[in-house]
Amino acid sequence: MSMNLVTLLYLVASVCFIQALKGLSHPTTSIRGNIFGMTGMAIAVLTTIALIHGQARSLNVDFGTGLAWVLAAVVIGGGLGAFMANKVEMTKMPELVAFMHSMIGLAAVFIGVAAVAEPWAFGITAAPVAALIGAQTPDGAVVLDGFVRYAIPAGNRLELFLGAAIGAITFSGSVIAFGKLSGKYKFRLFQGAPVQFSGQHMLNLVLGLATVGLGLVFVFTESWPAFFAMLALAFVMGVLIIIPIGGADMPVVVSMLNSYSGWAAAGIGFSLNNAMLIVAGSLVGSSGAILSYIMCKAMNRSFFNVILGGFGGEASTDSGAAKEQRPVKTGSADDAAFVLGNAETVVIVPGYGLAVARAQHAVKELAAKLTEKGITVKYAIHPVAGRMPGHMNVLLAEAEVPYDQVFEMEDINGEFGQADVAIILGANDVVNPAAHTKGSPIYGMPILEAYKAKTVIVNKRSMAAGYAGLDNELFYMDKTMMVFGDAKKVVEDMGKAIE
Ligand code: TAP
Repeated sequence: MSMNLVTLLYLVASVCFIQALKGLSHPTTSIRGNIFGMTGMAIAVLTTIALIHGQARSLNVDFGTGLAWVLAAVVIGGGLGAFMANKVEMTKMPELVAFMHSMIGLAAVFIGVAAVAEPWAFGITAAPVAALIGAQTPDGAVVLDGFVRYAIPAGNRLELFLGAAIGAITFSGSVIAFGKLSGKYKFRLFQGAPVQFSGQHMLNLVLGLATVGLGLVFVFTESWPAFFAMLALAFVMGVLIIIPIGGADMPVVVSMLNSYSGWAAAGIGFSLNNAMLIVAGSLVGSSGAILSYIMCKAMNRSFFNVILGGFGGEASTDSGAAKEQRPVKTGSADDAAFVLGNAETVVIVPGYGLAVARAQHAVKELAAKLTEKGITVKYAIHPVAGRMPGHMNVLLAEAEVPYDQVFEMEDINGEFGQADVAIILGANDVVNPAAHTKGSPIYGMPILEAYKAKTVIVNKRSMAAGYAGLDNELFYMDKTMMVFGDAKKVVEDMGKAIE
C-alpha cells in the first residue's frame, strides 16, 4: 500500500473519530457517534496491518507469524471486550472504564519496553548488522555481541520515556481507581475513603522529580537500568496520586486517567512514527482533559485541588453523621401520588438509586400519567448524578423520555422556586444543601435546588448517605416527605395510585 493511500485512510479514520466525539456529546446522536467510532477504528486497524505488510515485504521479513499474533490478540481482546460490555450493568460502567484505561496504560508500557529493546523492529533505528570485533563502527553505533547496534535518537528516547512513564502512571492509577469505584475489595488502598498521611505531597514531589531525573538519564545515556528504575517509580507514583482521592472526586479522576491514557498513546505514536496513534491519542487526551475541566466546573472544584487529594477525603470519613437519628416525615407511595396528582408542575430529580433500581421505565410511565392529567413534568439533570458523566441522560434516553422534558442543572435551577413538587428518586448528594455551607466537604459544589420547591418528595430505601458519605438536611425539612422503598416498586405504586 502506498504511503499516500495510508495517509489518506488515516485522515478518513481521524475524521471518523472527530465525528464520533461530536456524536457522543448528545443522546440523540450518540448511536451515530458510536458507528463513526467503530468505522474509524476498523479503517485504522486494517490500514496499519496493510502498512506493516508492505514494510515486511520490502524488508523481506516474515509477516505471517506477526499477523497471526495480532489476529489472536484482536480475537481474544475483542471477544473479552464484547463480553464485558454486554454483561456490565450501567452502574458498573466507571469501573469498566477504569479497567480499560489500565489496559491502555499497560499497552503503552509494553510497547515502550519493546521499542527500547528492539528499536529496529519499530523502524526507530536501522537493524543491527553482524560485525567483526574491533571493526570500525558507523557514527552513533556500538558493537554488542558481535552486532553493530545503532543508538536510538535522543528525540525518540524522550518520546519513549514520556509515553512509557505516563502509561505506567495510568496503569497503576487506574487499577486503584477500579478498586475504589467497585467498592468490593477489603484491601485498604481499594477503599472509597482516601488514604492520606503526612508528607504525602512532599513524597509525591520527590518521586516525580526522581522519575523525571531517571527519564533524563535514559534520554542522555540510553541506560536500560535508568529506564526500568524510571518505570518502577512511575508505577508507584500512579498509586500514590490516586489513593488520597476519594468520595465525590472520583469521576474527575476517571476522566483524568482517560486523558493520561490518550497522552501515553500519543507519546508512543511519536516514537513509532505513526500518525494515526498520535491523532487518536491526542483526541482521547484532550477530550479527557476537557471533560475533567467541565466536571470540576460542575462541582466548583479546582482541578489541582482534586488531583492533589482534595475535598473527597473529608466527605467519605464524615459518613458517621449520616447515622444520626433525627425525626423525618414519612409517607406511602399513595400519599406521594396524592400530592403529585394535585400539583400543576412537577420536577423529577433522578439519581444513582434510580439507576440501581432500573426504574427509568416506571418513571416514564408515571410522568406520562401526570402529563395526561394536565400536569407539567420536567426532569432535572445534575452533571455528576449517578456514577458516570451523562449517566442520567443515558438512563432516560433508554426509557425514551422525550428530550424536551429533560433539562440541565443551569436551565432548571431557576424553576424549582415555582414548582409545586420536586420528586427526588434515588438522588442524594446532587440535592444536598450542605453544598452551600462553608466547611462542608462538598461546599461550593453546585446542586439542583430542589429544596426551593413548595413540596419535596424523596424516595430512597433508608436514611443512608450518598456517595460523598454526608447527611442531607433536605430530608429533615418540614416540607419534605420521605417515601422509603426501592425506587422501582415505589414509582410503580405511585403510578397505580394516580390511575
Ligand atoms: P448518591 O449521592 O450516591 O445517592 C444515591 C442514593 O440512592 C443513596 O442515598 C441511596 O440511598 C439511594 N438508593 C440506592 N439504591 C436505591 C434504590 N434501589 N431505590 C431507591 N434509592 C436507592 O447519588 P447522586 O445524588 O446521583 O449523586 C452522585 C454522587 O456520585 C455524587 O457524589 C458524585 O460526585 C458521585 N459520582 C459521580 C460520578 C459521575 S461522573 N456521575 C462518578 C462517580 C461518583 P439508600 O441506600 O438509602 O437507598
